[in-house]
Amino acid sequence: MRKIAPSILAADFSRLGEQIRAAQNAGADMIHLDIIDGHFAPNISFGAAISKMSKAVSSIPHDAHLMVTEPENYIDDFLKIGAEYITFHIEIGGRPEMLGERRWVYVIDKVDERRILNLIGRIRKAGRKAGLTLNPPTEIEKIHPFLDKIDLLLLMSVNPGFAGQGFIDNVYGKIEAAATFRRDHKLGFEIMVDGGVDLGNAKRLYSIGADILVSGSSFFKSSNYSEFIEKIKS
Ligand code: DX5
Ligand code: ZN
Repeated sequence: MRKIAPSILAADFSRLGEQIRAAQNAGADMIHLDIIDGHFAPNISFGAAISKMSKAVSSIPHDAHLMVTEPENYIDDFLKIGAEYITFHIEIGGRPEMLGERRWVYVIDKVDERRILNLIGRIRKAGRKAGLTLNPPTEIEKIHPFLDKIDLLLLMSVNPGFAGQGFIDNVYGKIEAAATFRRDHKLGFEIMVDGGVDLGNAKRLYSIGADILVSGSSFFKSSNYSEFIEKIKS
């Protein structure tokens, strides 16, 4: 099933509640919460308080995308507010690679398997869906050991931090590889793509295996949300 998850990072914060309700009324499948701590990625977004408000004004599922270096410290907050999906990065414990002045992306050489499994376990034990995600520079193979233990694979098509960035197209190969792995191993995780998604690339993303597309700027800049959803899914 083709799903769409508006990212409220790109919404107008002066009328956030209204925009979330409008997204739900237009047929959005879930709300994507971009939680950024200023360490893992170069921006500070919002946390559990705003996320709780979003849950209060809408009834569709919420997925918390934790772009934080220490997910251990935040998981309980997102369990408490009722986020249906909680996703964290495989690059935790890695290092920032500079992309320019005041811009960086986390990369990882050696994945801390025990730490990742422990976090997945905490989320699943609470009855929520566990998501794992990887930054554009991270090879898809690094995620293989976890694919039979997660509910959601989030593939980043921008370096985390900001809405409205250009789409990085190395994600196409990762979607195809993940969809093939899922089929070959008879697994059930959903594939989500996040960053720079618009009406121009959505069709290809869905057709090669993406189940859920995150849409920030393209969604909130559109003049008619329900028309946008209808178009992007067609
Ligand atoms: C980037 C976030 C994305 C982003 C999506 O750090 O994870 O969810 O806000 O916004 P657009 O669709 O504008 O790239
Ligand atoms: Zn996101």
